[in-house]
Amino acid sequence: MVCKLRRRVVSRLHLPVFPSMQSNSQRFPLALISKSPLAAATPDSTLAMATWRPMTDSDITALMAIADEIHRDLPEAEAVFRERLHLFPEGCLVLVEHDSVGGYAVSFPIRRGRPPALDAMLGEIPHDADQYYLHDLAILPRFRGRGAAAEGIGKVMEVAKRYPTTCLVSVYGTVPFWERFGFAPEPVDAAMEEKLRGYGEGATYLTRGNA
Ligand SMILES: CC(C)(COP(=O)(O)OP(=O)(O)OC[C@H]1O[C@@H](n2cnc3c(N)ncnc32)[C@H](O)[C@@H]1OP(=O)(O)O)[C@@H](O)C(=O)NCCC(=O)NCCS
Repeated sequence: MVCKLRRRVVSRLHLPVFPSMQSNSQRFPLALISKSPLAAATPDSTLAMATWRPMTDSDITALMAIADEIHRDLPEAEAVFRERLHLFPEGCLVLVEHDSVGGYAVSFPIRRGRPPALDAMLGEIPHDADQYYLHDLAILPRFRGRGAAAEGIGKVMEVAKRYPTTCLVSVYGTVPFWERFGFAPEPVDAAMEEKLRGYGEGATYLTRGNA
C-alpha cells in the first residue's frame, strides 16, 4: 500500500499544480490516506502494479475491448485508433498491469481549434500543427480512483508542452474532472458546434495553456 501511494505522489510531481487539483495524497499525510473515502472505494487492490507504457500495434485489440465497454454510445472504428498510433505513436499510451491492459490515452497535434470529428480519420498530422489534442482517455472501472488518469495525463502533457495549448472534447459530464488539470470551456464557432453534436449531449470543448 505504501509503495502504491508513493507512486501516486511521485507521478503528481510531473504535473503543473492547479489549486483545485490537489490530490488526496497531497492533502493528507500518507499514513491517513488508506482511511480516505477514495482509498476505501478502490475496487482492486492490485493496482500497485499498473503502469503506463507506450502503446503498440498488439495493444489495439485490448484497446478496442475497453473502448467498446466505455464508449458504447460513441463508437470509433479500430482503424481510427490504428491510424493515430501510426501517425503519432508518442501520443499513445496504455495502462498495464502484468499483461492486462486497463486503460489507454490517445493524443496528437492538430491545427488550433480543428480537432477531428468523432470516428474520423486524420490522413496526416498537419505540418503546421499548433495545438495538442487529447483525443481519448479511458480507464476500466477496476483501475480507477488511484491516480492512474492523473499519471497518464501528466505523461501526455509532457508531449503536449511542445505546443502552446491543449484541447479536448469532454463527454460524460467530465468537465469538473478536466478542470482539475487546468482545462476550461472555450467558446466555439458553428463548425465546432456541429462537431460537438457528434459527441452527444453535454459534449464540451475545453482548452488549457501548456506553459
Ligand atoms: C475520468 C477517468 C479517466 C478518471 O480516471 P481515474 O483513474 O479514476 O482518475 P484519477 O484517479 O487519476 O483521478 C484524479 C482526480 O480526479 C478526480 N476525479 C476522478 N473522476 C472524476 C470525475 N468524473 N469528476 C471529477 N473529478 C474526478 C479524482 O477524485 C482525483 O482527485 P484527487 O486528485 O483529489 O484524488 C475514468 O473515470 C474514466 O475512464 N471514465 C470513463 C471515460 C471518460 O470519461 N473519459 C474522459 C472523457 S472526456
